[in-house]
Parts: sequence; C-alpha cells; structure tokens
Amino acid sequence: MRYNPSMTFIDPGIWSTLDTAYQNELSSDLDLEHIRLLTQTVASAPARRALLQALRLGDHKKALDLGSGFGPAVFELAAIGVPSIYGIDTDSAAIAVAQHVHSSLDGWIPPSCTLEFKEMNATALNFEDATFDLVTSFLLYQHVDDPYALTAEAWRVLERGGIFCAVEVDNGLSVIYPEPSEAVTRLEAAYDSMAHHKGGDRLIGRKLSTMMENQGFNIEAVLVLPNAAHGPSRPSDLGRQLDLERIMLAGDSIVEQGILTREEFDEYINIYAEEETSTRFRLETLIAAVGHKA
Ligand SMILES: C[S@@+](CC[C@H](N)C(=O)[O-])C[C@H]1O[C@@H](n2cnc3c(N)ncnc32)[C@H](O)[C@@H]1O
Repeated sequence: MRYNPSMTFIDPGIWSTLDTAYQNELSSDLDLEHIRLLTQTVASAPARRALLQALRLGDHKKALDLGSGFGPAVFELAAIGVPSIYGIDTDSAAIAVAQHVHSSLDGWIPPSCTLEFKEMNATALNFEDATFDLVTSFLLYQHVDDPYALTAEAWRVLERGGIFCAVEVDNGLSVIYPEPSEAVTRLEAAYDSMAHHKGGDRLIGRKLSTMMENQGFNIEAVLVLPNAAHGPSRPSDLGRQLDLERIMLAGDSIVEQGILTREEFDEYINIYAEEETSTRFRLETLIAAVGHKA
C-alpha cells in the first residue's frame, strides 16, 4: 500500500523558511484575488505536506505539478527529495510570485535539485510523452472545463510505472453549523452555479478516481482529507473579506447568466457583508486520488 500515514515525517521545522517566504509575499502589493489564493495556499500547507510524505512522493525523480499557482507543492517536493520538478500554470502573475519565492529560498532548496516554473495550459502540455515519473495536481481540476483532457495529458506525460496524484474539493462534503442565513446559502449556491457555467466543478473530488480509472490508471489510493474548525465568523475576519470579494467579483457573471437578479444579488451581498455569528463549526473536505500508470 502506497499510503502510510504513520511513516516518519521530516522535521516540521524545515517548513518555517517557506512559510516566511509566503508571509512576505502576502504583505507585498498583490491584488485581492491573488491574496485570496495565497491565503488558501498557506492554509492548505499542513494537509498537503503530510500527504506528500505519507504517499512517499519524495522517492520520485522527475515531477510535474499542474496548476502550480504560487509553487507550494513544487518547493515541498524539492524539500522531501525529488531532484527535478516543473511547475506549470496559466497565470503569469502567480508564476512570477513562485519565481520570486524561489529566489528568496536561496540555500533552502537542495543544491542538486532543479526547479522550473513555466506558463502552460495543463490540458495541452508542451512536454514529450513519458517525461515524468510523478504528476501532481492540487485544486486545479475544479477550474478546468475539460477534466478528461487534463487526465489524458497527465497520462501522456507520465512514463510507465509513474504516479498521478490529484487533490480536489468536494463541496457536497462540506458542513457548516449553525447553518448560515438563506441569503448566504443562496449566494454561495449562485457562485457554485456560475463556476459550473464557466466549466468549473465544485463536486469534482468524488469524480477523480473514476476519471483516472477510465483513462487507464490503476487506482492505488483514494483518501478523504477533512479539515474541521470551530470559531466565530465576523465581517472583519480576513477570510470573510476575501470570500466577500470572491463573490462580489463574480456578481456580473451571476447576474448575466440569470442565476440571480441584480436586486437579489445586491440584497444578499449586503446581508453577507454584515452577518455575524458567535460560533460556527465548519468542515471542509478534500479528496485525494492516486493512480498508477502500469
Ligand atoms: C486554486 S489554485 C491552486 C494553486 C496550487 N496548486 C495550490 O494548491 O496552491 C488553481 C490554479 O490553477 C491554475 N489553472 C487554472 N486553469 C489552468 C489550466 N488550464 N492550466 C494550468 N493552470 C491552470 C490557476 O491559474 C491557479 O493558479
């Protein structure tokens, strides 16, 4: 079995250099959408690092991280021993941040390791067949309009014996208690529906292993990675402000697609902006699927 959660992890103190580098980027002049993405990158770090190690992905020699964003998985794979890693993404601003973080990590990345970030579409990769022995994808599938093309590309660039590891959200496995107001529930549903119209899929987690198997992968592991928290949710919280910004940016698309009227959107967003709950339980769940190209 590839997944071994009780294996010995590297000293967690090693991550502080990377964490500091990302904190520095957060205090630079990023726009709100990139701050939101970077906050998500930082928040997901412990689960991703544990997973990379428990799956022994550090044993691989040449890795490709699809939709690498600010590069966390690329740096983390380097730290656990992968000697050659590419990160690709369509967002040039995210790649610029990843390259900046890379330069600030001087001495932290093992000297024998080569890292490269490239602007590229994950559904049309500019790599030869059978180039890598590991392909990873974190929180990318939910954004692409052709997940089958993404799976096919991962298969194509992997050599025989290679591993594809994909990690995704599944909003159907999220729980909030007490339940938010109807206005907030309708706004979040409108956002998901808008994302779906654009080709995204917030229920993609449960579909990963079937898609991989249909492509030809042998499924080695399917894991549920829950993240539960309890605490107040106040309008002044950074997370709340970033969520508000995310939905406001989607407002025109939500109205243009007829999901909500402008009046409904404006009414709900005002409630969303001001709603305060003293306590809140929140469970968010990621699904990881690992396929082997036999
Ligand atoms: C939610 S972010 C995740 C970033 C990173 N994997 C992480 O876990 O922090 C999704 C990333 O996928 C990128 N992306 C979306 N569609 C893409 C595509 N077709 N090809 C490559 N990257 C894409 C976005 O630019 C964004 O950086």
